[in-house]
Amino acid sequence: MPRPFFTEEDHQRVEEPFLDPEHSSERKPVSPYSMVNKAVIILFCVGLTAVVALSVRGYMGENQANLRAHTEALRSNGTHAFRKTVILISFDGFRADYLDRGITPHLHALRDEANAFQAEYMNPSFPSITFPNHYTIATGLYPETHGIVANEFYDPVLNQTFYYKNDLITRDAQWWGGEPIWVTAERQGHLAGIDMWPGSTAPIGGVLPTYLIAFSDPVAPRTKVDQLMTWLDLPLDRRPTFLASYVPEVDHAGHAYSPDSRQVNDSLVLADDAVGYLRASLAARNLTDVVDVVYLSDHGMASVPDDQIIYLEDLVGLDLLDLVSGYPLAGLWPKHASDTARIYEALRIQSAGQRWAVYLREDIPARFHYAHNDRIPPIVCIPEVGWTFYTRHQYDHSHLYSGKVSKTIGVHGYDNLDPTMRAIFLAHGPSFHAGKLVGQAADSQPQDSAGALHPPIGPAPRDVETATIQPPFDNVEVYNLLCHLLGLTPSANNGTLAWASRVE
Ligand SMILES: *[C@@H]1O[C@H](CO)[C@@H](O)[C@H](O)[C@H]1NC(C)=O
Ligand SMILES: *[C@@H]1O[C@H](CO)[C@@H](O)[C@H](O)[C@H]1NC(C)=O
Ligand SMILES: *[C@@H]1O[C@H](CO)[C@@H](O)[C@H](O)[C@H]1NC(C)=O
Ligand SMILES: *[C@@H]1O[C@H](CO)[C@@H](O)[C@H](O)[C@H]1NC(C)=O
Ligand SMILES: *[C@@H]1O[C@H](CO)[C@@H](O)[C@H](O)[C@H]1NC(C)=O
Ligand SMILES: [Zn+2]
Repeated sequence: MPRPFFTEEDHQRVEEPFLDPEHSSERKPVSPYSMVNKAVIILFCVGLTAVVALSVRGYMGENQANLRAHTEALRSNGTHAFRKTVILISFDGFRADYLDRGITPHLHALRDEANAFQAEYMNPSFPSITFPNHYTIATGLYPETHGIVANEFYDPVLNQTFYYKNDLITRDAQWWGGEPIWVTAERQGHLAGIDMWPGSTAPIGGVLPTYLIAFSDPVAPRTKVDQLMTWLDLPLDRRPTFLASYVPEVDHAGHAYSPDSRQVNDSLVLADDAVGYLRASLAARNLTDVVDVVYLSDHGMASVPDDQIIYLEDLVGLDLLDLVSGYPLAGLWPKHASDTARIYEALRIQSAGQRWAVYLREDIPARFHYAHNDRIPPIVCIPEVGWTFYTRHQYDHSHLYSGKVSKTIGVHGYDNLDPTMRAIFLAHGPSFHAGKLVGQAADSQPQDSAGALHPPIGPAPRDVETATIQPPFDNVEVYNLLCHLLGLTPSANNGTLAWASRVE
């Protein structure tokens, strides 16, 4: 019997089960002790890298760093000079309408501030899951182009499997295409400090962020803010100008207890507290008008009754398949490529009138931008929001580890334009004024590019409360915006908005 792809790390509700008969038996649960060891080793290596980088810098001489800094406008907090500096924080799974619950006062207060910017919401890319979207935010590329097409996927050219919770795999640069913002920054003479962002531990294009902390969990959000401040307090020539941090608590609560739970409310209070603490920490350094801060999320969360399951073995013989990946979707890799057309046709007939659709990779709707990569399975079944694909074995297994706390759980990964999948985007700092980028003309503000082409599905967008709230946009636009804020030349990407025009 093929076994799904779980380890004991999946103590939360399992997010993405993965049927992988060939490799699953090789995976051993990682003990917390060995995790700590690894973290220490990584930190040591990072420290070493930083020391080496710094000595090279020192060798090149202070003058060069000063010269570089003086070619751009420095900002002062009264006592210290700062280059253009951006902090990016991701609250995983923070659905756009969570902001309307009235329990996130610090985020809400941004709406009334002079130097703030808020999008009504931000569209994730498809599939609306964590690794593809964090890497889209970092690169401005659709998942089909940057290559992180799921949290776990098979690459038929490499004949290898990517799995997001295996840090030996995620540290391997071969998986990560495109150029993430921290690499763009480092290549253009900036330093980056990255705390737990997916992809940051791989030397992409041979470049690691100067300061790097590998993923570990749980770490209190306030501790992450303190880490950012430690970096900001470094002297000018060693201080990173691009800082990023990743906060998973809202996603964890959403999966385990569903979006409408008290536990999600608690996690929102925790996230908002971190925002308040960050703002206070910046204010204590007189940096409120010096440092730009962007808060966003990767996707939303849908409420899913525990029994809205589509069992795969009722639809196709599992013995015909090598792999099933992509929960809540079902991405199918037939054992024999010659079976693909037959399996697809049988599924197509069975999908009529059901709560799911099936596509051959090349026929996946163009608006998903999810066809042009060998890592996308040849057959992809996409459920309606509220439904999930499982094999019975996967289902039992996931419930073994979930501790089964609730009849209704939280799931994401669906159609990226569904309202439940919407992410947040808010920012404040010297580059923003009255809901706009400083100096930018009204006609170059964001438009809902996806929504314009494909009218949003489901209920109409919620009311826009104030004029400072901008129309929604797609998360491929974020990379260009970050480049603009930092004064960097962006790498080729899928962003379309003219963020940088007519500014400064
Ligand atoms: C705070 O920074 C501003 C410039 O952003 C400066 O004008 C002001 O003097 C600073 N305040 C203090 C107390 O240093
Ligand atoms: C792919 O790798 C597996 C072992 O992980 C091996 O058994 C199989 O033969 C390989 N397939 C090809 C086409 O190289
Ligand atoms: C979550 O917070 C909102 C706003 O206060 C409240 O209306 C809702 O009842 C809370 N949900 C739970 C399950 O406590
Ligand atoms: C300016 O920032 C530096 C570095 O964070 C800090 O040490 C200093 O106290 C700040 N200056 C003021 C006036 O707050
Ligand atoms: C996204 O950008 C990359 C890099 O420029 C390009 O190769 C790819 O074709 C673009 N995708 C779309 C859908 O435009
Ligand atoms: Zn996520």
